Amino acid sequence: MTSSLTSAIPHLSPAWSHYSDVIAERGEGALLYGEDGRAYLDFTCGIAVTNTGHCHPRVVEAVQRQAGILLHGQANIVFHKPMLQLVQELLPLVAPLDSFFFSNSGAEAVEGAVKLARKATGRTNVVVFQGSFHGRTVGAMSLTTSKTIYRGGYQPLMAGVFVAPFPYAYRYGWDVERTSAWCLDELDLLLATQTAPNETAALLVEPVLGEGGYVVPPASFLQGLRERCDRHGMLLILDEIQTGFGRTGKWFAYEHFGVQADIITLAKGLASGLPLSAIVSTRELMARWPAGSHGGTYGGNVVATSAAVATIQAIREENLLDNAVQRGAQLTSGLRHLQEEYPVIGDIRGLGLMIGTEFRDSGGKPDKITAKAVSQECFQRGLMLLTCGPWDNTIRWIPPLVVSREQIDQSLSIFADALAEAVGGS
Ligand SMILES: Cc1ncc(COP(=O)(O)O)c(C=O)c1O
Repeated sequence: MTSSLTSAIPHLSPAWSHYSDVIAERGEGALLYGEDGRAYLDFTCGIAVTNTGHCHPRVVEAVQRQAGILLHGQANIVFHKPMLQLVQELLPLVAPLDSFFFSNSGAEAVEGAVKLARKATGRTNVVVFQGSFHGRTVGAMSLTTSKTIYRGGYQPLMAGVFVAPFPYAYRYGWDVERTSAWCLDELDLLLATQTAPNETAALLVEPVLGEGGYVVPPASFLQGLRERCDRHGMLLILDEIQTGFGRTGKWFAYEHFGVQADIITLAKGLASGLPLSAIVSTRELMARWPAGSHGGTYGGNVVATSAAVATIQAIREENLLDNAVQRGAQLTSGLRHLQEEYPVIGDIRGLGLMIGTEFRDSGGKPDKITAKAVSQECFQRGLMLLTCGPWDNTIRWIPPLVVSREQIDQSLSIFADALAEAVGGS
């Protein structure tokens, strides 16, 4: 790091953990450039945000155009065109859901969704699932169970949150359907012993566990949640903040499982990097949310919503969902080859371009040290990859949906070299 700006770094709060000391200068597609000109393959996507790649020309053009016309058209004061255009773009993607509330961050959307569920049902409690990550604000943190660091020292948190198991079959060591059936049984027990259905407003779940370890549940699990919601009058809230906008090869991950939510939350990939989130539900349900009982100064910002319109158009018109499926298959098959050579890669799982490689030692225990060492070796070679999971022993692969065949090959070759360096071997 050479910049004269480095003297400012110690003045940033240490609450921010740092993956690297790169001072980012610019980004283009799957590449991020440091101020020293070095290029990195950014397979973090800024934590699953830049699904259309860095600075997609269409998004940049929309932002620049909008910034010259209007920067702030406050949603309580006026309607603005980009928000209305965004609603029109989203409607066919989320049908039969048809009502939107826009805010800025994922945490804000999740908290808003819980507020909506409480108002709409008149019930207070929420069930979340082990390994959940829903954000950092007090309400969202109370719903988060993926690591103790996120909650430690902040108790007491929001009350009325209950935790049921998520079907992380690889961890339990059972087959997927047995794990799913067990988790649903445990949920029934929770509803019989800790939070009665008539005081439970919602089940809140990530359709694919993100921060908690990139775990894909079987359809039977999410369908079992839907069935219980229908039986007991609870709402099903799907947090699509990390899984949405083509990440799993479909617009939204719930489409893989044949499950319809009552409420979904969106953020991250929605606006290609500008801060924007959404709570999406039905007009009937939203009608139970009285005017003024939720809000926010900046929600649905005019520049961010124009970026979102351009994002959706780019994903659709450039067939980025197809590319996510194809590049995801290419990446998974390359990783499986490497797994044959490196048994420390205990599990490879995912959908589309949301793939986790979980590291286990020879005794079958979570192997954070190797996962971190491999990630670090990748970084030294110009490939940015994050880890996740309760023990930080899962490397997550979240390249942009615009990633090319050559870039996936390049990432696999870097990963192979990093494994050889960190673990030893060919
Ligand atoms: C599934 C999920 N929900 C909510 C959030 C919180 O989003 P934000 O960081 O924008 O508040 C995240 C962030 O990683 C997430 O992955």
